Amino acid sequence: MDKLKALYEGKAKTAWETADPNYVVMEFRNDTSAFDGGKTASLARKGLVNSAVDEHVMTALSAAGIETHFERRIDANNVLVKRLQMLPVECVVRNRASGSIVRRLGVEDGATLAPPVFELFLKNDELHDPMINASHCVTFGWASAEQLAEMEALTLQVNAVLAPMFLAAGMILVDYKLEFGLFEGRMVLGDEFSPDGCRLWDATTLRKLDKDVFRQDLGDLVESYQEVATRLGVVLP
Ligand code: CDP
Repeated sequence: MDKLKALYEGKAKTAWETADPNYVVMEFRNDTSAFDGGKTASLARKGLVNSAVDEHVMTALSAAGIETHFERRIDANNVLVKRLQMLPVECVVRNRASGSIVRRLGVEDGATLAPPVFELFLKNDELHDPMINASHCVTFGWASAEQLAEMEALTLQVNAVLAPMFLAAGMILVDYKLEFGLFEGRMVLGDEFSPDGCRLWDATTLRKLDKDVFRQDLGDLVESYQEVATRLGVVLP
C-alpha cells in the first residue's frame, strides 16, 4: 500500500494517507522524544524494533478478541492500520506506581496498585496532556459516558492479556497508555503498543527496560527495547 501524503506527524510516528480512505500507513520513525519534546534523539533501529513489538502485542490482543486498528506489518518500519476517528483522550492503566502519579499523589515509587488505577488525560501538546475526568469528557464533548465506559473496560481487558504476557517473559507491566478511535461506529484500539508508551521493569531486579532509560539516561535505549522484543519471542533482523 503506497504512502501518498503525510496526514499527521507525531514525535515518533507519521501517519500516511493511502489510496484506500479506510486505511492508513503508520510509520515508526527512529525519532525519540521525552519531556514534551524537551529531549530528543534519533536512534538507529528504534523504529523497526517498536514496529515489531507493536505487531506482536496487537496480534496477541486480536487473538484475545480485542479489536485493534492493526491490519499487517508492511516492512521494517511501516504497518497498515484502519483509519479511525480518534478520540482526544489518553487512557492510562497503572499496575505499579511510577512517573506522574508519584509526583502528583506522593505515593511510593513501585507500590503495587490493586486494583489497577485507571486515569484519563487530554491529548493536547500545548496544554501538556493534562489529567481530566469523565465529567470533563462529557461536558466538553471529548467522549460520551458510554464511550468512556467502553474505553475503560477495553483498557482493563488489555491489562488482563498483557500483564501476564509480559510477566511470562520476565517483565512487570508497570503502566501504559492507550488511545482509541471509532471505526464504522465501533470502539477500536488505535495508536501503538511499544516500550515508548509503557513502563516495563525486569521482574527480578526491577531494572527499567522502557523509555525511562532515555528519560533518565540509564543506558542504551535501543538495546533495552531489543531486550524487550527478544524476551517476548520477537525475532529481529
Ligand atoms: O511518563 P510520565 O511520568 O511523564 O507520565 P505518566 O502519567 O506516569 O505516564 C504513564 C504511562 O503512560 C507511561 O508508561 C508513559 O510512558 C505513558 N504515556 C505515554 O505514552 N504518552 C503520554 N503522552 C503520556 C504517558
